[in-house]
Amino acid sequence: MNTAPTAGRSATALAEPPAPAGLMAGRKGLVVGVVNQRSIAWGIARRLADEGAELGFTYRSVSAGKWLERALPRLPGDPYLGACDALSDGDMERVCAEFAERHGQIDFIVHAVAHADKDELAGGLAATSRAGFTHAMESSVYSLIGLAGAARPHLAPHASVLSLSYLGAERVCHGYNVLGVAKAALESAARYLAAELGPAGTRVNVLSAGPMRTLATFGLPNFTTSMSQRAQRSPLARPITADDVAGTALYLLSDLSSGVTGETVYVDAGYHIMGTWPSEDSHE
Ligand SMILES: NC(=O)c1ccc[n+]([C@@H]2O[C@H](COP(=O)([O-])OP(=O)(O)OC[C@H]3O[C@@H](n4cnc5c(N)ncnc54)[C@H](O)[C@@H]3O)[C@@H](O)[C@H]2O)c1
Repeated sequence: MNTAPTAGRSATALAEPPAPAGLMAGRKGLVVGVVNQRSIAWGIARRLADEGAELGFTYRSVSAGKWLERALPRLPGDPYLGACDALSDGDMERVCAEFAERHGQIDFIVHAVAHADKDELAGGLAATSRAGFTHAMESSVYSLIGLAGAARPHLAPHASVLSLSYLGAERVCHGYNVLGVAKAALESAARYLAAELGPAGTRVNVLSAGPMRTLATFGLPNFTTSMSQRAQRSPLARPITADDVAGTALYLLSDLSSGVTGETVYVDAGYHIMGTWPSEDSHE
C-alpha cells in the first residue's frame, strides 16, 4: 500500500498548467511542396499539426497559394504562408527569415520538391538536354541544399530536416530517367548535409516513398499500372497510403528518431527489399 503523503503534491500538480500534448508540441517548422490535398507534404503537415506542431507553408504557383489560403484555416493556429520558388535563392532566404521572425527559430523543415520537364522524362535519359538536366537537378536537389543553407542561421538546436525520395534513385524505374539521377544526388546531398550540420545538432534524413497518385506523377508514363503491380509485389501486398508516409515523417522529424541522421528510410510496403518473386520460377 502506498503510504506516502500525496496531498501537497496533488495541489502543486493541479496548480501547474497542463503540459502541451503531442510529439511535436512547441515545434515550429516550414513545409515546402504542398500544391493540393493529394500532396505528400500535406499529409505530413496534417499529421504534424495533430501532434502539436506550428506550421508554415510555401507555395510556388498562384493556384497552390489559393488552395493553401482556403485549406490553412483547417489547421490549428495561424500558419505562416509565403510564396517561394525554389529556383530563387532570394525567395528561400526570405521565407526562412520571415518564418524565423514570426516564431523565433525553425525546428524542422519538410522539403517535398521535385520537378523535371515532361518531355525530358518521355525522351529517355540519353536524350536529356543540358537545360533539362540542369532544371531537374536545380529543382529537385539544389532546392534542398539551398533551403538548408537559407534556414541554417535560424535552425534551432536539434532541428530536423526531411526530404522525399523515390526508388528510382538507386534502381532503374521505367520512365523516371533524369529524376532518378536527381533523386540519387538528393540522397547523397542529404548525407553530406547531415555530416555538415550534425555538429550543431541538426539531423537530415530522406524518406523514400512508394508510388502515390499526386499532381507530380501525372507526367510519368504507366504510373497507375506500375503502382498497382508494385502493390501486388510488395511484401505487405498493398499500396502505400498518405498515413504510412506521414507516420514515418513524424518519427523522423520528432525526437523519436533523435539518434538518426543521414538515412534514407523506405516507406514502400517493403517493395525495395525484393529481388525475385514466386512466379519467376527460373530464378528461385
Ligand atoms: N507521388 C509519389 O509517388 C512520390 C513517391 C516518392 C517520392 N515523391 C516525392 O515527394 C515529393 C512531393 O511530391 P508529390 O508526389 O507530393 O507531388 P506534388 O505535385 O503534390 O508536390 C510537388 C511539389 O513540388 C513543388 N515544386 C516543384 N518545383 C518547385 C520550385 N521550383 N519551387 C518550389 N516548389 C516547387 C510543387 O509546387 C509541388 O508543391 C517530391 O520530391 C516527389 O519526388 C513522390
